[in-house]
Amino acid sequence: MTHTKVLVPTMGALHAGHLSLIEIGKQYSREIVVSIFVNPLQFEDPQDLAKYPRSVESDSQQALLAGATQIWAPTVEEIYPDQVSVIDSGVIGRKFEGVGREGHFDGVLTVVDRLFKHVQPTHAVFGEKDFQQLFIIKKWAKKSKLGIEIISAPVIRDVDGLALSSRNVRLGADDRKTALVISRALRQATHERSVESARDRLHDVLASEPGFELDYAEIINEDNFEPATSARKSRALVAGWVNGVRLLDNMQMSASVIA
Ligand code: PAF
Repeated sequence: MTHTKVLVPTMGALHAGHLSLIEIGKQYSREIVVSIFVNPLQFEDPQDLAKYPRSVESDSQQALLAGATQIWAPTVEEIYPDQVSVIDSGVIGRKFEGVGREGHFDGVLTVVDRLFKHVQPTHAVFGEKDFQQLFIIKKWAKKSKLGIEIISAPVIRDVDGLALSSRNVRLGADDRKTALVISRALRQATHERSVESARDRLHDVLASEPGFELDYAEIINEDNFEPATSARKSRALVAGWVNGVRLLDNMQMSASVIA
């Protein structure tokens, strides 16, 4: 059997979503490396970077319990010892998440490239929660012929429907109730019969919650990230703020609607 090694790249503040990536990684190898690195290059707002939760000790314990065989928590100097030549994430990197966060996906690709070079995995697992990130990484890995299989892992939700995110700890009880509008809107939209009605439903439901500040809501074609014209292989994306906390989520158009 050829030697396999899985990398699960994280920025720490691990939750059940990350642990599910480790669980999926186990299907591909007995060697699971979890990296913990808060990448300054993908934060455009220094305040957001400063506020990002850091808990390497408990993260390492959780990851090892979940089945990681190695934890790697490098310093900024280890990852960026030299002048950084940034990888261009292209046109798609400047859409949606890339609009208000200039250089964000360039920063993601640059760090993922460095993590890959250090760890030399055969497989790497990324969550569908950051669907645009996953799309960009897959496209770049294929184009660059890295020979690393990029595995996608489904969004993990709390029982109330909120997609798990390291940022959820910053939501108060009322904010959390407000935030549920996102998964509610996605669920309703993805059960609509057409892309047009799905778009309308998405916007209507989101607008019904005054505490939610919309950034974008769109149904995209999963193959090219363009606005979808048919429900097949399409996905609804939402991003916005609740009381200053940025949240994003997505859901595939329901198979029952497309069939
Ligand atoms: O999704 C994340 O946590 C980060 O963007 C990643 C992939 C670990 C790169 O810093």
